[in-house]
Amino acid sequence: MQSRTTEDALNPFPRYRLMRESQPVFYQPQHQFWQVFRYDDVQRVLSDYASFSSVFGGGEGENPLGASLISMDPPRHRQLRNLVTQAFTPRGVAQLAGRITAIVNELLDAVAARGQTGQMGNTGHMDIIDDLAYPLPVIVIAEMLGIPHEDRERFKIWSDIIVGAANAGEGNPQVEMSAYFFNMIEQRSRERKDDLISALLDAQIGGEHLDLRELLGFCILLLVAGNETTTNLIGNAILCFDEHPEVYEQLRAEPELIPGAIEEVLRYRSPVQFMYRRAAADVTFKNQEIRAGQMVLAWIGSANRDEAQFPNADDFDIKRTPNRHIAFGHGIHFCLGAPLARLEAKIALTMLLERFYDIKRVPGVQLEETGSNIVFGVKHLPITFSQGAK
Ligand code: HEM
Repeated sequence: MQSRTTEDALNPFPRYRLMRESQPVFYQPQHQFWQVFRYDDVQRVLSDYASFSSVFGGGEGENPLGASLISMDPPRHRQLRNLVTQAFTPRGVAQLAGRITAIVNELLDAVAARGQTGQMGNTGHMDIIDDLAYPLPVIVIAEMLGIPHEDRERFKIWSDIIVGAANAGEGNPQVEMSAYFFNMIEQRSRERKDDLISALLDAQIGGEHLDLRELLGFCILLLVAGNETTTNLIGNAILCFDEHPEVYEQLRAEPELIPGAIEEVLRYRSPVQFMYRRAAADVTFKNQEIRAGQMVLAWIGSANRDEAQFPNADDFDIKRTPNRHIAFGHGIHFCLGAPLARLEAKIALTMLLERFYDIKRVPGVQLEETGSNIVFGVKHLPITFSQGAK
């Protein structure tokens, strides 16, 4: 991919528009990959698995993620997805609401206490990413998996390294984490508990279970696919609201608008900007000849700003209907964690708005992009707020 300026990384949308208008299906000879920018084309690349495969490189190989459903095609994808869906149901996720609320409150209590002991009177300050959006999904997934409290810190370090938010340093964290999960899986094989690993061990279709590698691959996939994405959904929501401060009052007055606002954030600042596929065979696509084996980048972030699908696509409108964004993908690989991400974002934003007001970005602080090409958002987002009686 071409090297990007910070400005483009934080606001790639003018470039996407140019590409949708001038070169919607674009080949880059030096990197030998294709890029598609329009809504219909992105949908097709994501969902037409017969032409555009999710299997890359060596497939299964050494990497446990190679054995996970995000890098599989049917029929194996279907079997595996049906198995893990049994353990990861929207109903099960909805039951986590109470626990997620408690975690958000704990995180905000820590922030509130810091504000009161400071010298800023009844005001406070926090970093939306460091203090809320980053820890929340890591704690939730650790609890879901059944990681004991005392191992939480270790788990967080592995998770940081896996998503590239921290350096590996000494040792091999992938190996350490795999060993840790193997051990946990073994324990749960002997004695089930009320956690996701136990449910995954029990999941079966026609007598078939997940094997050890698949189970491990799925646990690691949850960390990779679920944490940084949710962090950036929450961070991106605050960025959007900061640009439209009237939204804070609107959402406080009518909290039932929060889910719609989250959908609009997902469209307007999609946490995942693109996904890859590999052409499974030679395919003619919009009069272009894509050769078997070539990579195709499907620009979700651009599709979600396509005027052909979304009138006034560059307007942030929390009441937009319909809002058929594809921030969670499209077709058979549609995000398995979407209900969880939506629930975490809803609770985090609801509690933040209930407890704090006059939320404003700290002026003059330069925003820094995540550093990942795929995940879109900012590394830090310092804000100030007021608390207590208004
Ligand atoms: C705002 C947060 C999130 C966004 C924007 C997001 C986005 C996506 C996208 C675009 C895909 C499709 C990948 C493809 O087509 O190749 C996907 C798949 C997936 N996501 Fe998410 N995701 C989020 C949160 C989560 C969470 C919280 C979890 C679980 C804890 C999760 C687990 C998965 C899994 C397992 C898949 C693979 C599904 C399959 O291949 O069948 N995601 N996600």
